[in-house]
Amino acid sequence: MKTGFVSSAPAALDAAALVILDAEGPASPLLPPAAAAWRAELHESKEFTGKLYDLAILHRPEGVAARRVVLAGTGPADKFTPAKLRNLVGAVVRKLKEKSVSSIALALDAGHDAGAAIEGAILGNFEPDRLKSKKEGLGSLESFTVCAPEDARAAFDRGVHIGHGQNFARDLVNEPGNLLTPTVLAARGQAMAAAAGLECEVLDRDRMRQLGMGSLLGVSQGSAEPPAFIIVRYRPAQAAPSNAHLALIGKGVTFDTGGISIKPAESMEKMKYDMAGGAAVLGAMQAIAALKPAIPVTAYVPTVENMPGSRAQRPGDIVTSLSGKTIEVLNTDAEGRLILNDAMTYARREGATHLVDAATLTGAIVIALGGVNAGLFANNDDLANRVLGAAAATGEKMWRMPMDDEYKDMLKTPFADLPNIGTRGAGSITAAKFLEAFAEETPWVHLDIAGTAWLDEAKPYLAKGPTGLPVRTFIQLAMGW
Ligand code: BES
Ligand code: ZN
Ligand code: ZN
Repeated sequence: MKTGFVSSAPAALDAAALVILDAEGPASPLLPPAAAAWRAELHESKEFTGKLYDLAILHRPEGVAARRVVLAGTGPADKFTPAKLRNLVGAVVRKLKEKSVSSIALALDAGHDAGAAIEGAILGNFEPDRLKSKKEGLGSLESFTVCAPEDARAAFDRGVHIGHGQNFARDLVNEPGNLLTPTVLAARGQAMAAAAGLECEVLDRDRMRQLGMGSLLGVSQGSAEPPAFIIVRYRPAQAAPSNAHLALIGKGVTFDTGGISIKPAESMEKMKYDMAGGAAVLGAMQAIAALKPAIPVTAYVPTVENMPGSRAQRPGDIVTSLSGKTIEVLNTDAEGRLILNDAMTYARREGATHLVDAATLTGAIVIALGGVNAGLFANNDDLANRVLGAAAATGEKMWRMPMDDEYKDMLKTPFADLPNIGTRGAGSITAAKFLEAFAEETPWVHLDIAGTAWLDEAKPYLAKGPTGLPVRTFIQLAMGW
């Protein structure tokens, strides 16, 4: 999809559809005069009232270059947020694609966030059907043009990079486990970094052995696919005044069978999305390379396949992590924390001052928060608030979860420093308490995205499948530092 930004008069735009936002009150000043009577009649008859997501289409209006004028309802103007604009534009794109509209122009006034609008268009245009020979889905738009006052151009340009970063992550998440192995994910990371002008390093199994990443290696040993540890570095041209160095860490399990503690067959196919955290980190880095925040950011993606092969680790095995802590593997399906702890230790040793990880870590977070909010866990209020602020600013929902000391008492074993699972209950919190032990004194936030990284049913603005969360939060966190 081609994206464009213009500041000319909306009525002069050549497109299959010109979209005008319509709040429930008086008509938008951007509405071409030729469509004014039509709009008044719609409101009069209550056929179209400007309710959020409502659409009305007028064909071949006079004095308008576009072949259609589309009214898109925003709901009451004072309740219309950038998050709603993002979703509304996504919904418009999906609705009009269904009608085989190939090019859209959207008229915005100064009060609208052109960045959120183009993000919504790019996200709405994503279809998870790359591997379908005959596309049954909604197809793809050829072009989307935002028409807005010139000073919205910078926000628009940022939105293009953010939308593409998010869709890059969604493409990775969507790829099945046979095609996207740890080796392939590493190659994708390298290709992205090369194209974006970032430095990328991939540690192989031998290197991880030398370093002593016994926790990560234990998970990978049941698979014929070798593990990889992907590191992507962004460095600002000008040294920032603070000494902050942000590490973004993402769980990269390309397929999670559970290992010897094998998962039931039902819905196991979904476990291809167990690398959504890693994909989000890589998608964010692609945008960060273009947007150039003032602080250094390094991405760490430990990637493995969790399989029950003959060399697989057994329940009861005890591994030694890079940190030196020993871990009793009571359940091989709690593998995310086993690969993340080695990545956290590595990032800290490289000088990271702030750790933020994203992981499809627990089924328990799906029970607690459903598909609405990601769970946020932290050992530091300042960093937690920074991440919550970035999430709120970009329309990604997160909810902070408790981390009382008592939960730590649920993680005990007589045989090693830590077991990899807790006693019954609070499964997402004990998982976070496990990770917290490896953050030591470093400020750290953990996002459990098991419920929010994958949509089981399409939304009006988003296809079924990978959501790309929390790419926008990561980008905003770096940009707003
Ligand atoms: N990848 C899963 C978590 C998950 C579950 C993600 C459902 C998305 C949807 C993780 O590796 C896992 O299996 N966790 C176990 C932990 C348990 C053994 C303590 C779980 O949540 O059941
Ligand atoms: Zn698992
Ligand atoms: Zn997993």
